[in-house]
Amino acid sequence: AQFWLRGQRPDREVGYDEATGMWEVHGYPEILRALSDPATFSSHTQRLVPEARGFSEGNLTQLDPPDHQKLRKLVSHAFTPKVVADLEPRIAEITVELLGQMQDRAELVADLAYPLPVIVIAELLGVPAGDRDKFKRWVDGMFNSTNKVSIKDRSPEDEAYFASAMEQVGELANYLTEHVRERRAKPREDLLSKLVEAEVDGVRLTDAEITNFGMVLLVAGHITTTMLLGNALLCLDAHPDQCAMVRADRSRVPAAIEESLRFLSPFAAVSRVTTEETELGGVRIPADQMLLLWIAAANRDPRQFADPNVFDVTRDPNPQLGFGRGIHFCLGAPLARLEGKVALNLLLDRFPRLRTDPDRAPRFLPSPNMTGVSELPLRLR
Ligand code: HEM
Repeated sequence: AQFWLRGQRPDREVGYDEATGMWEVHGYPEILRALSDPATFSSHTQRLVPEARGFSEGNLTQLDPPDHQKLRKLVSHAFTPKVVADLEPRIAEITVELLGQMQDRAELVADLAYPLPVIVIAELLGVPAGDRDKFKRWVDGMFNSTNKVSIKDRSPEDEAYFASAMEQVGELANYLTEHVRERRAKPREDLLSKLVEAEVDGVRLTDAEITNFGMVLLVAGHITTTMLLGNALLCLDAHPDQCAMVRADRSRVPAAIEESLRFLSPFAAVSRVTTEETELGGVRIPADQMLLLWIAAANRDPRQFADPNVFDVTRDPNPQLGFGRGIHFCLGAPLARLEGKVALNLLLDRFPRLRTDPDRAPRFLPSPNMTGVSELPLRLR
């Protein structure tokens, strides 16, 4: 992530990156302003990336008002707080099962942090959790790259990466479309069927909208939670005093999760595109420019957080931006928080001596926009 850029460019919270043709924003108030003004800072970034255009229909993350509200209202009808809260016993059951299979020298990502959210989101949507190796292949193809997405002067390698990422998106879309068609013919007790049936003011979702929304859920809904679990453990392991406080008082678990989202934000940057010339942080930005809003950097902004580089589970209030802010605030935040709470509590219950393995180093995801481990070896006893 780019929070270190803060130290390198203390005079500039907003800057233009010649290499990628994008504007980089690092400051908390500047990012808050961009996230609160969707008319000027549009989410429809795909209009600058022609190859990706086919996937904007039903993709909440790409929509602006008024279409965004319409779709968000419809999907929120199916994906309610009650639907999420009701998942708690099943999340605990899956976690206990996965923990039961862990050996003394475990690896957090493969053993728990990857399978848990994928099984949960697959069961919720109603697609077979047994297909998770396929999801992993498709999603890894989209994210497991060091390539920085650029809108100008893409190298042949960047082009090849982009083409292969779009191929993965296409395969996932075909897979989900088949399931949506099946639900239309014969509804079941799952989220895909609820989305098929959802109706607000006489409006219903199309197959393409459900497919693309399902893709957003599968992609946004699992890799980020995997990172959250890994990052929370890394933070607690590196701060034994804080870890002891959380162990002693489990009501601190949710605050520890919020602080780890601030300290190591999984989704490091969100993108926006300017619809007109504007000014941000005293810098003039023309229309039709792509912006990368580094929420990971804003979460370390000393203008907002006292001692931003200190991991402090008692931080209160903690207005961290890890789930974004404004109309696009993460729809899955309640689910991610619930999974984080259940998994962390059960890990702490089961393994009083849990620590990272001193003999095996963690590995980090190569993508510059993602902050998280791809491997976190642990010692359980
Ligand atoms: C939006 C982060 C988990 C579904 C977002 C945004 C962020 C984010 C930063 C805002 C994007 C923007 O403004 O452009 C995270 C993190 C997670 C997480 C850090 C885990 C720790 C989930 C889960 C789901 C989910 C579990 C679904 C099951 C979504 C959806 C949106 C979204 C549908 C789009 C909302 C909209 O555009 O209105 N997420 N997310 N996320 N997230 Fe999450």
